[in-house]
Formats: sequence, structure tokens, C-alpha cells
Amino acid sequence: MHILDAVFLMSNTNVTGCPPANLPEVAFIGRSNVGKSSLINMLVNKKGLAKTSGTPGKTQTINHFEVQVKKGTNWYLVDLPGYGYAKISKSSRGDWKNMTRHYLKERENLKCLFVLVDIRHEAQKLDIEFMEQLINDEFPFCLVLTKADKLKEKAVVDAYEKYENTLIERWGDAPTMLVSSAESQLGKDQILNLITTLFEEDK
Ligand code: GTP
Ligand code: MG
Repeated sequence: MHILDAVFLMSNTNVTGCPPANLPEVAFIGRSNVGKSSLINMLVNKKGLAKTSGTPGKTQTINHFEVQVKKGTNWYLVDLPGYGYAKISKSSRGDWKNMTRHYLKERENLKCLFVLVDIRHEAQKLDIEFMEQLINDEFPFCLVLTKADKLKEKAVVDAYEKYENTLIERWGDAPTMLVSSAESQLGKDQILNLITTLFEEDK
């Protein structure tokens, strides 16, 4: 895929205000601070497009970006708000759940959700439960282990295998899993190729 540019379209708190569902779309979700916005910027080669921050809870709305490609159809890339952010009130946590669940249910052009987890941590309850909800809802997703530059190469392989085994033990199978780094651009081509395939399969 040859990306020409990516532009921010709008932020929403409800699916009804989002751009028309006339382009294929993928979305990024995961624990607050896991690196969703950084990964988006890395994929489209545009630092500062999605706002990043060292403070968890930066992205609190559904953010749409349009990715313009050289040949073929443009697509939407969506930065969803993070979950599991400790300093958030119970009611805001409920709002997050409602907003995202509603989004996943209603957004018909959303082809796949990329669930991001930090490669430095073992599989965590919150992420597992979130993915189990997706499985129950039969919502297509793949898993991205982020911030691989923080570990040595061998540790990356070990962490990947450990995560995969945990999921296989629980579910009998693991989703498509990728490793990324917004720093080193690791995983960029793989993720973009996967997106291309997803959109083509759907035609
Ligand atoms: P929220 O919007 O708060 O949910 O966070 P987010 O998931 O969008 O994370 P964001 O991209 O803002 O990144 C959080 C912090 O992690 C920032 O300080 C980033 O610079 C850092 N970070 C993100 N990705 C990477 C990575 O691949 N490698 C390293 N070393 N740091 C990263
Ligand atoms: Mg963010």
C-alpha cells in the first residue's frame, strides 16, 4: 500500500456523528498509554497526527483519520480511547464501555479491530476480558504487541511465545499476532499488508 497522506477528520463521542461509513475502516484500541496514537502516526508516517502523551488517558474520543492511498480506495483509521486508566471515575469507565461497545456494534464499515498490548507485560486480565468480549460478539480482531524496542530481540520472541501460549491455553487458538515499535517502525509493513488483505477480502 502506498500512502500519500493522512488527515484528521473529526472527534466524536457517539457513532452517529462519525464520518459516513462509505470507506473501509480499521480501529485501534487497548489500555491507556499502550501506544495506540503513536502506532497510528508510525503507520501513516506522520508524527503529531494522532495526539500522543506520556500521561495515560490522552485520547478520550473516537478520532477519525482518512488515509489517502496512491491507487485504490482511501480508508479510515480510527483512534479509540484507551481503557484501564486508573484515575478515571466509575461513571467515565461506564461511558467508555458504552461508547466503544456501541461503536463496534453499529459501525458497519469497521473491518477489524487492532487490540494493542504492551509487550513488556504478561497477558493481563483486563485485556483478556476485553478480547473475550470480542470473541463472544464474533467481532474480528488481531493483537499487536507494542513497544518492542524496549526489549532485546530474544526477549521479544519469548514474550510473543508466552502471550500466544497463554491465549492458546485459554481459547484453544490465538488470533493473528503482530509485534510493533513506533520508535523503530517494526511491524509497519506487516500491519499495512494485513489491512490491505482485509480490505481486499471484503470486496
Ligand atoms: P491514550 O491515548 O492515553 O490511551 O494512550 P495511547 O495508547 O494513545 O499511547 P500514546 O501513543 O500516547 O503513547 C504513550 C506513551 O508511550 C508516549 O510517551 C509514547 O511516546 C510512548 N510510546 C508509544 N509507542 C512506543 C513505542 O513503540 N516505543 C517506545 N519506546 N515508546 C512508545
Ligand atoms: Mg492516544
